[in-house]
This record gives sequence, C-alpha cells and structure tokens, in this order.
Amino acid sequence: MNKKITLIPGDGIGPEVAQGAVQTLKKVGEKFGHNFGIETVLAGGCAIDACGQALPSETLESCKVSDAVLLGAIGGWKWDNLPGDKRPETALLQLRKELSLFAALRPALLFEDLADACPLKPEIIEGGLDLLVVRELTGGIYYGERGYKETALGKAAYDIELYSEGEVRRIAHVAFSMAMKRKRHVTSVDKANVLESSRLWREVVTQVSKEYPEVTLNHLYVDNAAMQLVRSPRQFDVILTGNLFGDILSDEASVITGSIGMLPSANLSESGFGMYEPVHGSAPDIADQDKANPMAMILSVAMMLRYTFGLTQEADCVENAVKSVLKLGYRTPDIYKEGTSQKLVGTKESIRLITDKL
Ligand code: IPM
Ligand code: MG
Repeated sequence: MNKKITLIPGDGIGPEVAQGAVQTLKKVGEKFGHNFGIETVLAGGCAIDACGQALPSETLESCKVSDAVLLGAIGGWKWDNLPGDKRPETALLQLRKELSLFAALRPALLFEDLADACPLKPEIIEGGLDLLVVRELTGGIYYGERGYKETALGKAAYDIELYSEGEVRRIAHVAFSMAMKRKRHVTSVDKANVLESSRLWREVVTQVSKEYPEVTLNHLYVDNAAMQLVRSPRQFDVILTGNLFGDILSDEASVITGSIGMLPSANLSESGFGMYEPVHGSAPDIADQDKANPMAMILSVAMMLRYTFGLTQEADCVENAVKSVLKLGYRTPDIYKEGTSQKLVGTKESIRLITDKL
C-alpha cells in the first residue's frame, strides 16, 4: 500500500511525540511492505513564529492532498496573549472545518497494566473501563455566530449554539455504527431541560436510533453525565454529544482512565478521511525534556491504520507493541509510580522500546 501522510508536529511536546509516529510508520512499512510517504508541515504557534499565520496555506493544501493527517499538539503559553482569532488553536478549528472532520472519536480505555493509575476507587472500575466519546466537531457553539454588543450592564459578548438536523443526524449515525461494533449502547448527552438546540438534538438522535434496533439508547443531561462518569462510568459504552459538551466530557473520560498520556483520537469526515492526534495537548511544562509519553501518538497511528487505511493487522500490531512495553514495566513519568518495580524511561527510550517490539 502506498500512502501519503501529512504530519503536523506542532508545539510543546508535539514534535517529540511525533517522532514516535514517524518511527512507528517506518517500522510498520518495512514489516508489512507498505510505503508511507510523510510530509512534515507547520501549524499552530510554531507556524505563527515562522510565518505569522497559525495555518499556512501550504499546510492546508498538504492535508487536502494527503490520505491522512497526523497531528502532535498545538498551543502553548508563549502565544496565550494573542487575540482570539490569532491564537494557535485557530489552526485546529480551521483544519477541522476545512477538512470536514465532523466526527471526533475519543476512546477512553483503562489499560490493564495501568489500573492503579485510575483516580477512582477500585470498586468503581472493577471489570475495567472502555468507553468511546463521539463528539460532534464542526458545529455548535465553536462555530456559531459570535460577537459583542452593548447592554445596560456594559459590553456583552455572545457565542451562539446552533445545530441543524443534518449535523445531528450524521454524527448520530457515527455513534450508532460505532456502538454496533462495541457493546451496543449509546448515551446521548445534552441539556434539553434548558436549551432549544438540545431539544432538537434529542429529537433527531431518537429518530436515528430507530435505524439501529439492536442498539439501546438513553439520554442524559450534561451535568448528570459529568457526575455519572465518576460515579459509575461502567454504565457507558458510546457517549454521543455536541462540540462543547464533548470537549469537556472527553477530558473527564480520559482522566478517569488515569492515563491522558495514553489516549489517541480520530477526527473523521464522511468519506473516512481522518486527522489523528493524541488527546493530551501540547503540555508546555514538560516540553523538550524527554518526559512526554509517546504512546497516545503511537496509538493514534494505530487508529489511522485501522480507520482510514483499513489495515487491521498492522493496527493490532502497533497496539500490542504498546501493551507489551507496559507489561514489561516501562513507564514515562506521567504513568510511573514510585516504590514499584517499574522502570522510568524518557520519550526517546519509550519510542525505541515500542518500535523494537513491532
Ligand atoms: C480539544 C481541545 C481543543 C478543543 C482546543 C485546543 C481548541 O481542547 O481538542 O479537545 O476545544 O476542541
Ligand atoms: Mg479539549
């Protein structure tokens, strides 16, 4: 198989973990006889520094003509004081929109060997945790009209939450199809007791559910869902929700696995084209110190192989390599526990260990 991949290392720990993706692809290519051509481009803070734009047009062009995109992380303290429309994060939002990546799949999986990193009581997670947040990614309040106006109490700012039936329908289909491959349960999360947009959301999700009679559906208000996630997370299989609630709940879901440094994600378009990225973000506090966990990035490569390229065996192989390095007790600082037999390793060593297992 010949594939062209655009790699956006980005900011903070992005470039360090991106090395893990490069080396994994090299090894998988050799082992299974594929040719992965990687083009590395700039986006985010580093692009602002280099050319004054968070998303240079060459970067977008490269993504558009590639078979998939891999992204490290974007953003950092250095650019925190830029105005909203000039921040590094705009690159991410533009990429999502321009590439029509309306579906974010954010799995939260408790790795067997990391169960002690979970911040919840053992009895709450007994039997394991394996849920998938399906977040709508190109609509809602992130992309609604925004602005300022004058009010009696002074300047006011607004951001509009708007969802069309079509937007809800297509993300609901993604959630139900994913549920069919899992435990066949969807929890749709909204705020239908208050928001009109949520009432439409609920109505459309209920309609779509009729096409998936084998999948059970329930609805939760977002405040309750946030609570249930820490109180009894094992009730969830697929969580289907909008852009803003999905942003919040996917962080919560990832942290209850105790391993935000471990979690990959996929952002998909209707055609299956995808941009894959670790969930953890740019972590500027540990950048350039060889401390970052490359596993989320490497597992994002596995998701790319599985979902966009249909390379199941190759994806399994990458995931197994990560699991066996964990089993051997190697840990980057984020998942390392002192006073145990675990072996503390840096980013580079972790990448080497994983690629050696491939
Ligand atoms: C995420 C991030 C982004 C988001 C930020 C960096 C714009 O938090 O991917 O979850 O809010 O979508
Ligand atoms: Mg987020």
